[in-house]
Amino acid sequence: MHLSCKLGERMITYTVPLCMVYTVNDQQRSKGRILRNGHKNQLRLYAMLIATLVILVHTSGIPHSMIRYWSCKQSRDCCDEKHNIVFLKVHKTGSSTVANVLQRYGLYKDLIFALPNKTTRQLRFNYFGGIGETLDSSGIKSSKRHAEDYNILYNHVIFNDSAFLSKFPKMDFMYVTMLRDPTTQFLSSLQYFLHENISKAACENISAYLTNPAVFEPTNPYLSFTDNRQALDLGLSPTKVRDLDAIISHIMMLDEIFDLVLITEYFDESLIILKRRMCWQLKDIIYLRKNMAYKSLNITINDKDEKNLKMWNLADHYFYQYFRDKFIGILTQERNLTEEVQNYRRILNDTRIFCTSRSRRSHLDIEQTIWNPSFTVTSLDCAYMRIGELKFHTKLLWQSNVQ
Ligand SMILES: *[C@@H]1O[C@H](CO)[C@@H](O)[C@H](O)[C@H]1NC(C)=O
Ligand SMILES: *[C@@H]1O[C@H](CO)[C@@H](O)[C@H](O)[C@H]1NC(C)=O
Ligand SMILES: *[C@@H]1O[C@H](CO)[C@@H](O)[C@H](O)[C@H]1NC(C)=O
Ligand SMILES: *[C@@H]1O[C@H](CO)[C@@H](O)[C@H](O)[C@H]1NC(C)=O
Ligand SMILES: *[C@@H]1O[C@H](CO)[C@@H](O)[C@H](O)[C@H]1NC(C)=O
Ligand SMILES: *[C@@H]1O[C@H](CO)[C@@H](O)[C@H](O)[C@H]1NC(C)=O
Ligand SMILES: *[C@@H]1O[C@H](CO)[C@@H](O)[C@H](O)[C@H]1NC(C)=O
Repeated sequence: MHLSCKLGERMITYTVPLCMVYTVNDQQRSKGRILRNGHKNQLRLYAMLIATLVILVHTSGIPHSMIRYWSCKQSRDCCDEKHNIVFLKVHKTGSSTVANVLQRYGLYKDLIFALPNKTTRQLRFNYFGGIGETLDSSGIKSSKRHAEDYNILYNHVIFNDSAFLSKFPKMDFMYVTMLRDPTTQFLSSLQYFLHENISKAACENISAYLTNPAVFEPTNPYLSFTDNRQALDLGLSPTKVRDLDAIISHIMMLDEIFDLVLITEYFDESLIILKRRMCWQLKDIIYLRKNMAYKSLNITINDKDEKNLKMWNLADHYFYQYFRDKFIGILTQERNLTEEVQNYRRILNDTRIFCTSRSRRSHLDIEQTIWNPSFTVTSLDCAYMRIGELKFHTKLLWQSNVQ
């Protein structure tokens, strides 16, 4: 069986490896629907936009003090709601779900996104710059509203401290990113990006592949998703990914700049911490999980393979270990976190059931708890939570042209 997939800027055709197990989930089913109903979907998008505008006009009457009351009540460290955030997206860490939260937050609050200066016809239009490039002023689309008064950045780009800090001062922005256990992140990359040689070699004999992964790597390291991609996204030079001194000093630099490094293995805890630091409402962080790899590679790795993989993904392992330990430290210091996460999960479950049911209920009422004021989830909210990241991105790009 032959399939085509896009890798970086190239289209490659590959043979589906024998160990591939194809599972269809809801995400894929709805993707199929979107492909079939492309035009209908476009119309639905515009309808959603108009509905959002109507809702925005109507809700702007809510007294601000009400909102303040709730965010203050739930934590003694009462703080002002923050709007400015740089989210450095790391591949295959669950960051698309966080990006969706940010896309919705910015849309509902009418904030200004820093978007790549590209059209949807361009390849990698959801990345800033070219392959391996960091942020550059001309790479950010200027907003029609206020020249450079950005609030939210959520697209893929290679991090570089000076490039980011000159554009998004640390004083004004929360710097956030997300890391994932490098072993599962690696396996997830393998099956998501399906590099013809790498996935095939890994499928045929994972042990043999892991004794020398380098031979299968593309010549441009920035086209690779299997060689310390997390560290690469966070700006470590590809020539330094197995250089311990460079790895450690890069970690120290990141630790200075990033206010919050979230951890995929603690996804719900991560979002609650994000909410607390940003002084957001629970409604702001509800989500439906997305962009999960839907093809699973039937690969199991033994202890020796894991050791080889750790040596190969040395930078990713050090990055992860450091920031996971730091995150766990944060968790132990947060007050009533377990209770809030439990409440969050209950509401996420209700939201998922509401959004996936075919019932004719137009909205879901969430009752007030100590952690949240009462709120409603509408079918429009569901649509925005479900919409693919690129579709949402397209909508935001389009919107930035008309405003
Ligand atoms: C965006 O890109 C276009 C074409 O590449 C360029 O002419 C324009 O100056 C860029 N915009 C900004 C804000 O730099
Ligand atoms: C960021 O870019 C500057 C200028 O191009 C470069 O000197 C610096 O080494 C880069 N920083 C990192 C962490 O790669
Ligand atoms: C896969 O390997 C073949 C043979 O070495 C090479 O010609 C081809 O370019 C490789 N494909 C990719 C995507 O790197
Ligand atoms: C896979 O590779 C390992 C190490 O190269 C080798 O010992 C083993 O026999 C191979 N397994 C199979 C099924 O070919
Ligand atoms: C995965 O591979 C194992 C051994 O190679 C096989 O026994 C098992 O049936 C496979 N699982 C699936 C879901 O294909
Ligand atoms: C928060 O934790 C304290 C003790 O740590 C406990 O007394 C209190 O009931 C908790 N509050 C909630 C809402 O769970
Ligand atoms: C989700 O909610 C349903 C209906 O209220 C309940 O039956 C189910 O046990 C819940 N699942 C989880 C994982 O909480």
